[in-house]
Amino acid sequence: MNDKMKKIKISPIRKGTVIDHIRGGQSLKVLKILGLTDVEIKDVVSIAMNVDSSVGKKDIVKVENKEISSDELDKISLISPETTINIIRDYEVIKKERVKLPERGKGIVRCRNRNCITNQKEPVEPEFKVISSKPVNIKCVYCEREMREEEITENLL
Ligand code: CTP
Ligand code: ZN
Repeated sequence: MNDKMKKIKISPIRKGTVIDHIRGGQSLKVLKILGLTDVEIKDVVSIAMNVDSSVGKKDIVKVENKEISSDELDKISLISPETTINIIRDYEVIKKERVKLPERGKGIVRCRNRNCITNQKEPVEPEFKVISSKPVNIKCVYCEREMREEEITENLL
């Protein structure tokens, strides 16, 4: 087998989005963020987990006919800040951008402190500040409770 063959893990797509350089083993969380875990899926979706890349293991998700919203991008950045989003048209990459870990985010992650004002009947949307990116660590702006990767994943809205 030649080197090019060895590199091909999943087929190219004609139109849609390739979510690349996802931290190894995190792609199922990306599918959850995209709302693809509990619906009937009609489009082609391909997933590769823990494939070799220049900087260690990565996951890849390819979704045909899908555009990603800015809330979804912020959520993906929280679980995998190095992810790149490639928009594909007619088999060509027409746009490539890296997700950006925001400094703050509103209405994206629920605070895990049950007593936080954002978990009471008050009309206060949860809001966090990012305090580190590797590992991702965020802090509620109201009660200052910190949340790490696992907790963030469990509390995505
Ligand atoms: N891709 C795809 N279908 C296409 C075109 C590209 O699935 N029709 C995938 C490639 O397999 C790759 C990603 O989209 O996973 C980005 O493609 P490209 O920019 O061509 O690859 P690289 O230069 O290796 O990307 P990067 O520099 O971001 O690693
Ligand atoms: Zn809080």
